[in-house]
Amino acid sequence: MIDKIKEHIAQVEKFEATSKEDLEAFRIKYLGKKGILNDFFAEFRNVPNEMKKEFGQTINALKTKAETKVADIREALENKEEDKGVYGDLTRPAEPINLGSRHPISLVKNQIIEIFANVGFNVSEGPEIEDDWHNFTALNLPEYHPARDMQDTFFIQTNPDVLLRTHTSSVQVRYMEKNQPPIRTISPGRVFRNEAISARSHCIFHQVEGLYIDKDVSFADLKQTLLYFTKEMFGKSKIRLRPSYFPFTEPSAEVDIYWGLNNEIDYRITKGTGWLEIMGCGMVDPNVLENCGIDSKEYSGFAFGMGIERIAMLLYQIGDIRMFYENDVRFLEQFKSVL
Ligand code: PHE
Repeated sequence: MIDKIKEHIAQVEKFEATSKEDLEAFRIKYLGKKGILNDFFAEFRNVPNEMKKEFGQTINALKTKAETKVADIREALENKEEDKGVYGDLTRPAEPINLGSRHPISLVKNQIIEIFANVGFNVSEGPEIEDDWHNFTALNLPEYHPARDMQDTFFIQTNPDVLLRTHTSSVQVRYMEKNQPPIRTISPGRVFRNEAISARSHCIFHQVEGLYIDKDVSFADLKQTLLYFTKEMFGKSKIRLRPSYFPFTEPSAEVDIYWGLNNEIDYRITKGTGWLEIMGCGMVDPNVLENCGIDSKEYSGFAFGMGIERIAMLLYQIGDIRMFYENDVRFLEQFKSVL
């Protein structure tokens, strides 16, 4: 009997399988309920006592051999299958590459930058965490000036001199402090205002501000530059400047473009007037030039500033500003085709 078992051990050792089916048949043959091993175990009680020890050991050796064999071959077969999955069919069609898309804010920002770059403006950037001087005081907004209320500010609690910038005019101050005219720069960036969040306004949004300083710069230059911009950006060639107030410009104006009243959407977004406000602008106040180390007797200039979200909402007909910050892929994917 023991010789018979040893024969099986030799057979198990030799066994090889190239398919899962062969392996399964082998497993059932040895390890199945009615398999060879169980038959031997059943024989156990008929074995004379003095042989029991040797018999038991040999059976156990067969069992371990069979089990290891099954496990080894199974692993080898599975590895082979994986290889096939990767390299199997080299003529199969390639996996589709999922293209990403730019965020609509970046799309509009890049478009604005390009339009101004084409007429000689460079791009300047500055910190989002600002000090009082660059965000307010240098811009003709001294402490306790009531116009500071126009922009509800997030201050750092432990230090009232540190705040989150409320506009990128702070970048213009930094730029003027470091560069003498001629200056042509636009400053895109994220700004922060302590405002209630709604479909129309958010406590975080983006601006592009522009600054042009040279000898003999006039209001006509400002108007012509803005007209050029609105033509390029919106394809609209009618603008109007309404008198307004900003502490850092004098005179100041708000820029409206004539959007038209051709369909229902036009009526809705222009509140039935056909006109749409898109930015603030003005001639840089001489005080601001002096604060930044530029001689206001020799130089003059203009500045303007616009909100990127507002323009993106107009161009893409987005009804709720909060969509820009939720990063819902169903929203973002809609901008895939736009470069
Ligand atoms: N800084 C202004 C704002 O955030 C916009 C502006 C810039 C107005 C430049 C005039 C000139 O509202």
